[in-house]
Amino acid sequence: SPANQPPTGFRRVAVVKIVVLTGAGISAESGVPTFRDADGLWEGHRVEDVATPEAFLADPDTVQRFYDARRAALAAVEPNPAHTALAELERLVGDDLTLVTQNIDDLHERAGSTRVVHMHGELRSALCVRCGGRCAWDGPMLDADPCRSCGKGELRPDVVWFGEVPHHMDAIIDALVGCDLFVSIGTSGAVYPAAGFVQQARAFGARTLELNLVPSEGTAYFHEARHGRAGELVPAWVAELAELGDLG
Ligand code: APR
Repeated sequence: SPANQPPTGFRRVAVVKIVVLTGAGISAESGVPTFRDADGLWEGHRVEDVATPEAFLADPDTVQRFYDARRAALAAVEPNPAHTALAELERLVGDDLTLVTQNIDDLHERAGSTRVVHMHGELRSALCVRCGGRCAWDGPMLDADPCRSCGKGELRPDVVWFGEVPHHMDAIIDALVGCDLFVSIGTSGAVYPAAGFVQQARAFGARTLELNLVPSEGTAYFHEARHGRAGELVPAWVAELAELGDLG
């Protein structure tokens, strides 16, 4: 059946447009905890207490401490072969790759990817609640000075919380509509709108491939699914594409 065929749609076109969506699973082998796995971040924290606008209003210090700890932890981790393979894919195909991540870490950039679409924001960025200005941020944000642009506003982590609207949705939808191949890597498929990208890409004619440790919640929507560690599956898939030599 077509569901068991390899994602060969890209063989038929001279230029292949690829959208890759990554989630916490791609950074797991670097030592960054995922959210929903055993020992994931949502085991030790209630989402409502740390990842909602309501939590930030009610208890900003707790929210800042949660993200300060995660920002500090970034210093101790390195990109893994899955991140490196996606950077190599960008070098191979350039603009024909759109790399969308739900991750707020910077491991894709540190591996060499230059055009990462951070739909859930970035840990190493601060957002002013008053003027909406952004600035690069390292170190703790708890008890930080007000925004340097407006001089008054409180700074918050520049991440998308539950109930907020993800960033760059226009560009992401455009990429999904125009892609030949959609690949989802290391995401449980539990959080919309990202969980719906596979169906959108498919509706517009793309082949779809899942690379995840275990079947995701949306695994049935993919033409093909491969299950295992991202650090092995992603380099193997990029090598396959490169060997096909059809990358425009
Ligand atoms: N290789 C591949 N996949 C892995 C690996 C690995 N080494 N380790 C774990 N995984 C898989 C898990 O099996 C799981 O399906 O990665 C997935 C991670 O899922 P989640 O923890 O739910 O993370 P994610 O899908 O990115 O979460 C989406 O939820 O809370 C929000 O903002 C948060 O962006 C995040 C969003």
